Amino acid sequence: MRILSGIQPSGTLHLGNFFGMMQPAIALQEKGEAFYFIADYHSMTSLFDPAERRKNSLNVALDFLACGLDPAKSVFFKQSDVPEVTELAWLLSTLTPMSLLEKCHSFKDKSAKGLPVNHGLFAYPVLMAADILIYDSNIVPVGQDQKQHVEVTRDIAIKFNEAYGETFVIPEPQIRGETAKVPGLDGEKMSKSYGNTLEIFGEEKALRKKVMGIKMDSRTPEEPKPDADQNLAIQLLKLVAPAPVAGEFEARLRAGGLGYGDLKKGLFENYWNHFAEARKKRAELAANLDYVNGVLAAGAVKARALAQTVLKRARRASGLE
Ligand code: ADP
Ligand code: TRP
Repeated sequence: MRILSGIQPSGTLHLGNFFGMMQPAIALQEKGEAFYFIADYHSMTSLFDPAERRKNSLNVALDFLACGLDPAKSVFFKQSDVPEVTELAWLLSTLTPMSLLEKCHSFKDKSAKGLPVNHGLFAYPVLMAADILIYDSNIVPVGQDQKQHVEVTRDIAIKFNEAYGETFVIPEPQIRGETAKVPGLDGEKMSKSYGNTLEIFGEEKALRKKVMGIKMDSRTPEEPKPDADQNLAIQLLKLVAPAPVAGEFEARLRAGGLGYGDLKKGLFENYWNHFAEARKKRAELAANLDYVNGVLAAGAVKARALAQTVLKRARRASGLE
């Protein structure tokens, strides 16, 4: 079974990325042959600063390795080190109806907000389809918001197979129920673009300030809170704290007597501790960039070899060869 996923180097990674995509992806590396990449081509649709792209790409590599991606088990690489994927994207684009792309939220949301949209953003799901299909991927672990893109990939693969004969494996998205949508500091989906994130790695003081700044309602500490499970700090605690600890906070909030300040303090402590080991590992990796770059280079060699075989299959099927 082949597992594949990617993450854009478009900003600093946060708890939504971690629980929605990275943690499930890391768990899956035990279950099959995993391919994970830094989607730097995709980041070009929204980020136009080369230095920033370079810095973010390195940070994604450090974050992922620190959180447990094991290069002995997974193939880890940068998307643009396998340029074959852009050729496959072209082949696929000629079989992709415009109407399919017009429905995609990656494009629809931005154009609805009146933001400038480029062709790359419109064609984004086709490049993503090429990412998935070029490695004969079976399973694609992603957060809820990427499900539509995997469905588009399936549609395109089926069309190609119908037009040119069996060429591609049809992939399945894998979305983890309980963490499908991690809420941000404002209760909306946590996202780099909403400025409501808690970073996986960051400076202690700044992160504490963010947590302590979470807005709560004006009920007194003594008041029982039957809706404790709806509380944002409780929802985040359930992700970062051991289950009995989160359960105890929830019960105390429900019964009354736990102030919001103490709840947020508890959240910060558990959040900070959750990543303590990874933080240590990240510092070691950051002091050994040759190792990190070596991992990506070795990953690219393996990924590229597979991509070349699948691309050849598609070129033959479609009459280019
Ligand atoms: P962002 O919304 O911050 O730009 P990306 O779109 O780069 O995040 O998402 C990278 C991966 O992390 C995707 O698989 C996405 O589904 C997942 N992800 C992002 N935010 C969340 C969230 N709040 N909850 C769950 N998963 C998320
Ligand atoms: N679009 C994904 C995101 O923003 C990143 C991505 C690019 C991806 N190619 C992929 C994810 C292929 C899974 C499979 O999160």
